[in-house]
Amino acid sequence: MSLLELEKVVIAYGKVEALKGVTLRVEQGEIVVLLGANGAGKSTTLRGISGLIHPLAGSMRFLGQPIDRLSPQAIVKLGVAHVPERRRVFPGLTVRENILLGGSSRVKASRRQLETDVDHMFAVFPELKSFANVLSWKLSGGQQQMLAIARGLMSHPKLLLLDEPSLGLAPLIVQQVFQTITKIRGLGTTVLLVEQNAHMALSIGDRGYVLETGRFVAEGNPETLWNNDEIRAAYLGSRKPA
Ligand SMILES: Nc1ncnc2c1ncn2[C@@H]1O[C@H](COP(=O)(O)OP(=O)(O)O)[C@@H](O)[C@H]1O
Ligand SMILES: [Mg+2]
Repeated sequence: MSLLELEKVVIAYGKVEALKGVTLRVEQGEIVVLLGANGAGKSTTLRGISGLIHPLAGSMRFLGQPIDRLSPQAIVKLGVAHVPERRRVFPGLTVRENILLGGSSRVKASRRQLETDVDHMFAVFPELKSFANVLSWKLSGGQQQMLAIARGLMSHPKLLLLDEPSLGLAPLIVQQVFQTITKIRGLGTTVLLVEQNAHMALSIGDRGYVLETGRFVAEGNPETLWNNDEIRAAYLGSRKPA
């Protein structure tokens, strides 16, 4: 059974169909990359999966269970965490407080358990540790991205949805973020990664999908996508990686 399966999903904002029948699967343990130009429907796909917007048609299953009518809260509890675009952290809360909030869906976890998990997050994200008691607005863009991911992991997700984690970050920091994503997968969390940075994303991804105005125009392993000249020119930038 796939971890996540979308079949012919249609999502609209009013009369604008943002997704026109999207079929996708994510297997346990994979990093799956969702590529496409601005406005292609990448964020909408993630919003659909996490229950922020319900599809008009099609089906979405997580571990075989239909999720397309569930609330975002119910979907988090099933094991899906969504780190949205532009890493929204709470600027007036400390780093520790922000991370702790990510565990609020685990109603049965004791405060002590959650505190232990926060410490575990500082082990996964050592660059955040010395900022534990610092207000989050003081962090750099890269640190805020790490914080947003750490907060997402606090719900103990089986699937982590990451929306453009490299956006606006310096190249060196982008590399760190991508290394962290690989590390997270190594710790057992499956990742569905939305990116504009196709080179970097395909270098860590197992499979990818290319979205164009609400439809997939290509899918396959990174090699297949890079070897498709049309796709490479249109969506991936023309330079083939070394
Ligand atoms: N809240 C919204 N209201 C109306 N249209 C929206 C909204 N969000 C996105 N759209 C439209 O849906 C389409 C897909 O957007 P989006 O999923 O954000 O694309 P991407 O993340 O690939 O850049 C675009 O045409 C966009 O203008
Ligand atoms: Mg987007």
